[in-house]
Amino acid sequence: MGTDDGAGAGPLERSPLVVELFSGTGAATRPWEEAGYRVVRLDRERSFAPTLVADVAHLPLRPAIRPAFLWASPPCQNYSTANPRRRPDRGLWTSAWEGIISMGAERWVIENVRGACRFWGIPAARWGPWFLWANFRIRVPTCAPLPKMRFDNPRTRAVERARIPDELARAVFMSWLDDRRVR
Ligand SMILES: C[S@@+](CC[C@H](N)C(=O)[O-])C[C@H]1O[C@@H](n2cnc3c(N)ncnc32)[C@H](O)[C@@H]1O
Repeated sequence: MGTDDGAGAGPLERSPLVVELFSGTGAATRPWEEAGYRVVRLDRERSFAPTLVADVAHLPLRPAIRPAFLWASPPCQNYSTANPRRRPDRGLWTSAWEGIISMGAERWVIENVRGACRFWGIPAARWGPWFLWANFRIRVPTCAPLPKMRFDNPRTRAVERARIPDELARAVFMSWLDDRRVR
């Protein structure tokens, strides 16, 4: 990755950079993409067709590229409350955090499950079973009780369950825009 110095040729080169770590389907940063931002997605699973197939523990991104926004969804099995006595492996969360620091992300969100609160403290926002830690104010719409989700296809069940809902991604995008306006 090059630096975000705006020296590129086209307008897209000059638009702010957005990075998504553990991107899976990429649903979390879809609103930025639709609004024309440059989005770099990183996942170790090639089948998701991320921008970069890589391990977040060994980030191939240069330090100090200063993304305007970074979203990370480290795998949540570690923090599942199914087994509260298990000591979670916090390695990938730490890797996400190291990425935020080394890249110098201006604004960031780490998304996870309720069980992570025991280790990472009070989240900035919550929407249904999705908990968000962030360094800016996030306003989420009131979450009506979610219908019990059914994932009939065993091949895609895990992917669908982990996918960030469009409504939540849009709420974070709008909050981020609001935050930029007042800065
Ligand atoms: C909770 S899912 C993310 C779901 C995503 N937010 C979405 O909306 O589809 C976690 C993702 O992390 C990826 N992953 C797990 N360990 C990884 C690692 N060490 N480096 C990069 N990606 C990893 C998995 O392939 C999976 O796509």
